[in-house]
Amino acid sequence: MRLIKKVDVASRIVARVRKRGKVIGLVPTMGYLHEGHLSLVRIARKKCGYLIVSIFVNPTQFGPKEDFRQYPRDLKKDLSMLRKEGVDLVFNPSVREMYGPDHQTYVEVVDWSRLLCGASRPIHFRGVTTVVLKFFNILQPDIAVFGRKDYQQAAIIRKMVRELNLKVNVITGPVVREKDGLAMSSRNIYLNPGQRQNAVVISESLEWVRQAYKKGARQTKEVRTRMARMIRNRGGRIDYIAVVDKDTLEPVKKLKKGTLVALAVFFGRTRLIDNTVL
Ligand code: PAF
Repeated sequence: MRLIKKVDVASRIVARVRKRGKVIGLVPTMGYLHEGHLSLVRIARKKCGYLIVSIFVNPTQFGPKEDFRQYPRDLKKDLSMLRKEGVDLVFNPSVREMYGPDHQTYVEVVDWSRLLCGASRPIHFRGVTTVVLKFFNILQPDIAVFGRKDYQQAAIIRKMVRELNLKVNVITGPVVREKDGLAMSSRNIYLNPGQRQNAVVISESLEWVRQAYKKGARQTKEVRTRMARMIRNRGGRIDYIAVVDKDTLEPVKKLKKGTLVALAVFFGRTRLIDNTVL
């Protein structure tokens, strides 16, 4: 497994790999890897001949008051995990390598970047699409794998790929959960023991919706109210609970097959997201 920090070196390597006709797979990450990331790496490993994982905490997707500086980092541990998964190349550029001092170019999926998470994180998705497009240009993957925990992110990236005619096949992998149901996230480490116990209510509220839907519940308003009550009772501060169409991200009044229920909830200062598609 090679660890590459320079854009031009990475580009030269992938050009050689391409010439050999290998399918190139990419799993973009911000590091501090957990089983959720590894599940994406395993999906990609099965589908490609040359597997790249990028590890880059991308400053342009963090707002000025967000956790860019505190975001957990442990490159040594990440590398040892990736070595065991048979990854061929880890791309781990510095911020300076990715963004020059006068960086001014961004790509944005305009409307969708304002919805759901974008309402409280206005520059977040612009930063994500910009860095992902840069990775696609530098690393020339045939396939790229993203997690469905970040449902909106994956939807936005697919839209960018479609609308900019990129030749990358975007694949998504399922949400990987802790034993009690909490979705795995690098940010779970910020939770104190009490918050960690209470945070399970996020996945419990989604399970409640799934069951309520099976039993015939259809009214979005009622469902959101019940979920909000469950979450507040356990000390969560709701950023949003959205009930939308999974393809258009447009709000729906009635639950139906293909409805996406997505939410973001703060426990203390830690913002956690999760979702389910009915
Ligand atoms: O999901 C993430 O970890 C990041 O948003 C991504 C896709 C690696 C871009 O920085």
